[in-house]
Amino acid sequence: MKFKKNKLYIENVSAENIVNKFGSPTYCYSLKKLKENIKNFKKNFKRINPLICFSVKSNSNDYILKEIKLSGLGADVVSMGELLKALKNGISAKKIVFSGVGKSYEELEYAIEKKILLINCESESEIFDIEKIAKKKRKIVDIGIRLNPDIDAKTINKISTGKRENKFGLTEENFLKCIKKFKNNKNLKIKCLSVHIGSQICSYKPYAKMLSVINKVIKKSKHIFEYIDVGGGMGIKYSNNTKSLNYKKYNSLLINFLKKNKSKIIFEPGRSIIGDVACLLTKVLHIKKTKNINFIILDSAMNDFMRPALYNANHRIIPSKKNKLVNNLNHEFVGPICETTDKFGNFSKFQKINKGDIFAILDVGAYGMVLSSNYNLRAKPAEILVKGSSLKVITKRQMINKII
Ligand code: LLP
Repeated sequence: MKFKKNKLYIENVSAENIVNKFGSPTYCYSLKKLKENIKNFKKNFKRINPLICFSVKSNSNDYILKEIKLSGLGADVVSMGELLKALKNGISAKKIVFSGVGKSYEELEYAIEKKILLINCESESEIFDIEKIAKKKRKIVDIGIRLNPDIDAKTINKISTGKRENKFGLTEENFLKCIKKFKNNKNLKIKCLSVHIGSQICSYKPYAKMLSVINKVIKKSKHIFEYIDVGGGMGIKYSNNTKSLNYKKYNSLLINFLKKNKSKIIFEPGRSIIGDVACLLTKVLHIKKTKNINFIILDSAMNDFMRPALYNANHRIIPSKKNKLVNNLNHEFVGPICETTDKFGNFSKFQKINKGDIFAILDVGAYGMVLSSNYNLRAKPAEILVKGSSLKVITKRQMINKII
């Protein structure tokens, strides 16, 4: 994404062109950026040769998943829907891990049927269900057990997953109990210890703590884990103020860890692969000036992109065409939905804005379209993939008659 002669381009196509052709709001992905991110992720951890399982919950578009498959990545899934999507797009079952606190009996049966790499269990009750199915089918099922390492990932509270009070994984005590109990089970093979401490983590320090807890627990368990699944969570730069995660440090922590434990590392990245690959193009419907606030009313809303309303997340908003700067006016970008939280950002310095102007909300590739809904009976946006100068509709704009 860059400006050429004051106009915003996604690869070789101007944002204006895309909106004129496909309407708005529209999610717009750059294939080049996606490939770059995958390449960089692989490069960052080249020395440890990990299995990289893309977290499908962050983006489950078929075309994106096809690209994920082509680049050799596996998938981290959390539901029957995501498992079916990953398989449908050609991702090998042997590269799929299944996480989640509440897998149903049917979901477990299907995952076992498909012989996926690992089912990462999050409760003893779930392990019992797997054992029951395995017995019935006379199979030996490979499982992981998710440890709750009781670590504060120092991220947005609402997306922290590794603290004792979070519902995820098993506490150290229960984890060790389960290892003991199921270690020699005829129908189960405990192959993996998994963790995921949260999302949008921008410091290597929580990962360092996480690895030292894992080390301690492995020693106590006296069990050899073929895999250590360290989850995802790597943060991205949503603004110039966001700190970048030091991948070099994280990598060297893992290298040290592997000196003591001869396991294969599994990653489950979502945001770091797809987050900054897409923007949401949107148009100004109305401008409403009040004494203190200049409301910029967009044609996109929290149903199209939920992160600001749900987590108070800040996303940069940039114009498709540069204009003169206006100071000291409180611009508030809002959507048309009847909720006060339906807003995308506040800026005291912004360029002059006119009705009909097009803007791009940045870094919406992860947890963007997947969280969209039909709230207020609004149709869902389109998704476009840009490849050089060519454009491909990868999700058609939802027709209003489909929801009426
Ligand atoms: N593995 C597990 C078990 C997870 O729960 C998650 C995300 C991931 C991997 C991928 O994490 P990532 O690399 O994308 O950080 N909707 C929120 C984020 C929720 C994350 C849920 N779990 C947001 O928009 O910030």
